[in-house]
Amino acid sequence: MLNKTFPFYLANKPESPNADLEVTDKYTGEVATRVAMASASDIDRGISAAVEAAPAMAAMPPFERQTVLDHCVARFRERFDELAMALCIEAGKPIKDSRGEVTRLIDTFRVAAEESVRIDGELLNLEISPRARGYRGMVKHVPIGPCSFISPFNFPLNLAAHKVAPALAAGCPFVLKPASRTPIGALMIGEVLAETDLPAGAFSILPCHRDGADLFTTDERLKLLSFTGSPEVGWALKAKAGKKPVILELGGNAACIVDADTDIADAVDRLVIGAFYQSGQSCIGVQRILIHESIYDELRDRLVEKTKTLVAGDPKNEDTFIGPMISEGEAERLHDWINEAKQAGATVLCGGGREGAMLEATLLEDVPRDLKVCTEEAFGPVAVLSRFSDFGEALKQTNDSKFGLQAGVFTRDWYKIQQAWDTLEVGGVVIGDVPSWRVDNMPYGGVKDSGLGREGIRYAIHDMTEPRLLVIRTP
Ligand code: SIN
Repeated sequence: MLNKTFPFYLANKPESPNADLEVTDKYTGEVATRVAMASASDIDRGISAAVEAAPAMAAMPPFERQTVLDHCVARFRERFDELAMALCIEAGKPIKDSRGEVTRLIDTFRVAAEESVRIDGELLNLEISPRARGYRGMVKHVPIGPCSFISPFNFPLNLAAHKVAPALAAGCPFVLKPASRTPIGALMIGEVLAETDLPAGAFSILPCHRDGADLFTTDERLKLLSFTGSPEVGWALKAKAGKKPVILELGGNAACIVDADTDIADAVDRLVIGAFYQSGQSCIGVQRILIHESIYDELRDRLVEKTKTLVAGDPKNEDTFIGPMISEGEAERLHDWINEAKQAGATVLCGGGREGAMLEATLLEDVPRDLKVCTEEAFGPVAVLSRFSDFGEALKQTNDSKFGLQAGVFTRDWYKIQQAWDTLEVGGVVIGDVPSWRVDNMPYGGVKDSGLGREGIRYAIHDMTEPRLLVIRTP
């Protein structure tokens, strides 16, 4: 239970015209708190306020933007335990993972504070031919204007932070729609932002129903849309977004290749985390594990042994590793995929059972490669094992996907590392670890159906600014 209800934030101020949105504890299913829901007219007011705030935000000197971001870092540190417990309740995220996410939230704002005073330009020598004699250029990066953000349920704090913190660093006002199932993280960021001296109208955080949320996508006053969520929704939004640039951080069915020269114990430790942390509800959770045939049996057996030791249950308990999925419907959907694989001849090495929203950590082998559990985004605690004999073939299999977010490769062979980096069709290749590895300053995003553009503060700031050229003629 969270011990208060939550307003939404419109033009920097809390408003509670209703308490219509019930947010449940994802483990108990009980209502944990209620949240004010924004109407289409509230969203319209939020956008107008952001438009009015844009000149003041752009005029804010970098050190003042940094002061705002530093304030957030300090307050998130002070409220660390409260933030972690809110995540644990609203997302069903095991408490240790919840603390990990708060740590990352702090990193994201900390790096944004650093970047806010480093948005530099460049000096250009334009004298490339006789007609340009005496001409020089300078480029500065100006804020793109009011931004629209839509954030997902699986990292309610940090994936909202990946939009909010760079926007503040760049000098862009914004409207944010957090996921309706997990709006609390973003609203707690709102509580902290409301303590600062941001220009009036600089931010609005507006939980609302998806069908009332069209303005976040279609309104032409908004100059950028950044969406994190499912591929189906993301690509559909892009089609409706009009002239504004769109950043999409979407899903994947991430693969991890384990080559013959790997330290098996280390790979097992990392694979278990990569496949099952926060019940696999991460876009870069390990879904396909490709293992060299010479170590397949040993690695499989140790992976199964370790997976069976994972404690499932109440995410508030310190030793829980597997909590609930976000909803019973999602757990049912993935359970059906597992059963479909079983019927097609797959072997369930461990797990496979479900009770309500709790789906067991499941490992499968001998799965026909065209089944959903291989080709679609599982977004749950399921991984599929397969063997390979040739490294090039494993790279090909990894690329045999409509997605391309990150891939992991366990190998110590430098030539294979280069081959993987050259060949894999993904946004990032992680060597010696799982594809699920991320820190918050690295460029993060995908190719193919996994998205467009990159987050990772500096990269997001780049998208939230536009180059503006000054040409100077010296007669
Ligand atoms: C995601 O699920 O898209 C983000 C994963 C992460 O930030 O670790």
